[in-house]
Amino acid sequence: MTKSNFSRREFLEMSAAAAGGSVAARSVLLSPEPLDTPARPMAPSDTIRFGMIGIGMQGSGLLGTSITLPGVECVAAADLYDGRHTLAREIVRPNLPVTRRYRELLDNKDIDCIVAAVPDHWHRQVVIDAVSAGKDIYCEKPMSHTAADGVAMVDAVKKSGRIVQIGSQRVSSQVCAKAKEMIAQGMLGDLMLVEGYMGRNDPTGAWQYPPPFDLSPQNLDWDTWQGNVPKVPFNPLYFARWRCWKQYGTGVAGDLLVHLISGMMFMVGINEAPRQASAVGGIRHWKDGRNMPDVQAAVYYFGDLPVYMRLNLACEMPETYRIQGSKGLLEVGGSSLSFTPQLGINTYPSYYTGSFPRAMREEYERKWHQENDEKLSKLAVQESISYRMPDFDDTRPHLANYFNAVRSRKPVVEDVVFGHHAALACHMANESYFRGGSVTWDGASKTIKG
Ligand SMILES: NC(=O)c1ccc[n+]([C@@H]2O[C@H](COP(=O)([O-])OP(=O)(O)OC[C@H]3O[C@@H](n4cnc5c(N)ncnc54)[C@H](O)[C@@H]3O)[C@@H](O)[C@H]2O)c1
Repeated sequence: MTKSNFSRREFLEMSAAAAGGSVAARSVLLSPEPLDTPARPMAPSDTIRFGMIGIGMQGSGLLGTSITLPGVECVAAADLYDGRHTLAREIVRPNLPVTRRYRELLDNKDIDCIVAAVPDHWHRQVVIDAVSAGKDIYCEKPMSHTAADGVAMVDAVKKSGRIVQIGSQRVSSQVCAKAKEMIAQGMLGDLMLVEGYMGRNDPTGAWQYPPPFDLSPQNLDWDTWQGNVPKVPFNPLYFARWRCWKQYGTGVAGDLLVHLISGMMFMVGINEAPRQASAVGGIRHWKDGRNMPDVQAAVYYFGDLPVYMRLNLACEMPETYRIQGSKGLLEVGGSSLSFTPQLGINTYPSYYTGSFPRAMREEYERKWHQENDEKLSKLAVQESISYRMPDFDDTRPHLANYFNAVRSRKPVVEDVVFGHHAALACHMANESYFRGGSVTWDGASKTIKG
């Protein structure tokens, strides 16, 4: 094979071979960290008593998990739909006090803190009411429904001094923690770009959820459910599929991108809003009356770091990050990560010399080998490493982190400021998509500018 016949890939393979013979591979199984919770039995005074607000798809899971944590008890639950009172009692106990009015939970002195999983358009009110009533609160992601909501929530929480944990559980994932450690150790060298994507391809993944059969204005407080949004007649599809409409939800950005952004911020060590965002997308497949895009790709500057995120509800792709550094590539999935080191140096004479006349090329190659072969032969073997963590549930440690913080008054892993910054990235992607141009975050006026 002559020099100029080499493909780029063959060069990379040869480079690896030249640099220490080969790239070794190592695979490690991660085991779950023990939850940082006190062992049972626990003094009654150490038991955390919480009230649950919103017992829907996510809330029912949070409720079921929370009550399995040592020293955590559910005292009461609130939901606007009576069917979810039945569900809460099925999960906790048949005589669990239930109500349609969440403020009753905030007034209840037996309740130490709140876990809330209500639709996005209710987050601001529930969080501000909770902290104003002196209750800590775990609020689902995205923290806010709009940038202005987020600003108001940060102000209220800071004023109150209460603990707020936002529910993007990636930040409690051990896979992300391992990636964070590797990045902080400098294994990737200088960070060049972070890429992230995920996709689904089925009606449920695209939020076409079946409304409960019996749902009606008799067993649902439809008027309150709509919050401050202009009122419309009872619509069971809005109740079940609120993510599809911007009046209630935050689209793929608030539903899915927020996980990618929170995980990225946690791994890379960023806690700020993006400087700039630009998004494209469209309602390309699920033309069911929704007004939020089912495909959205956003590019950001977080400081000077370029970040590129893609979401797709009509082409399945496992959630993946490709964190690209000058010393290697870190690929992070839901339950695994792998790091492939790169030397970032020439390990073979430059292929550009294929354009030299033979005598010049041979002279260049002779000199090149003379100057480089010995030092390359002494380079350590490059080791690619992967970690796997099958069957890991990151929601459990995320909730445990919250309840421990309520008990110890130590900071949570995802506070209101972090949650606000992650949510802002989603709002900026939506603003950019709807405006059809780049947007920036103006920290002085705390608004998104076109
Ligand atoms: N962290 C995650 O992985 C994850 C996964 C799914 C959903 N979520 C988030 O959880 C939240 C809830 O989503 P969901 O899919 O469970 O929604 P859902 O519609 O299934 O459930 C929401 C429940 O809240 C109730 N509700 C609404 N307003 C209320 C109010 N003012 N007072 C009391 N109850 C009220 C509704 O009646 C409903 O039962 C959303 O913010 C969503 O983004 C997070």
